[in-house]
Amino acid sequence: MTRVLVLQGPNLNLLGTRQPEIYGRMTLDEIHAGLARQARELGHAIDFFQSNHEGALIDRLHQRDFDVAIVNAAGLTHTSVSLRDALLAVARPFIEVHLSDPSTREPFRQVNLLHDIAVESIVGQGPGGYTRALESIDRRVAAGELPR
Ligand code: DQA
Repeated sequence: MTRVLVLQGPNLNLLGTRQPEIYGRMTLDEIHAGLARQARELGHAIDFFQSNHEGALIDRLHQRDFDVAIVNAAGLTHTSVSLRDALLAVARPFIEVHLSDPSTREPFRQVNLLHDIAVESIVGQGPGGYTRALESIDRRVAAGELPR
């Protein structure tokens, strides 16, 4: 059993109503309910944390009570040296997820401070990106590439 932390950054609590033409109509609770079901089926433990505050996200990582993370750092992806440092400091592998594909959007979204330290980046697949991230974790754990 792998302990997975799903870390969600600023404004993702507004999914469902936030720019639905970009992010879709699914709420964060609906996405998390689907992931919880999927984790149960795969036999992994999963925990969820969303915050609009950089320090709260960093404090959650410092708890180190997980083996692997799925991280959508939202806008902090493009700005936060501190979140990058925290991910390196706790030394837990993570998969980066974005609902949209930031690399095809405004130029400031093309700066990504997490991409090069992520095991994998899944972008532009909407809520399905989270499902694929958990599938990928399961595959990598089975292959011995990630801790179980
Ligand atoms: C996002 C992309 C980011 O550029 C943006 O700031 C978000 C959401 C995504 O999931 O597509 O808040 O991370």
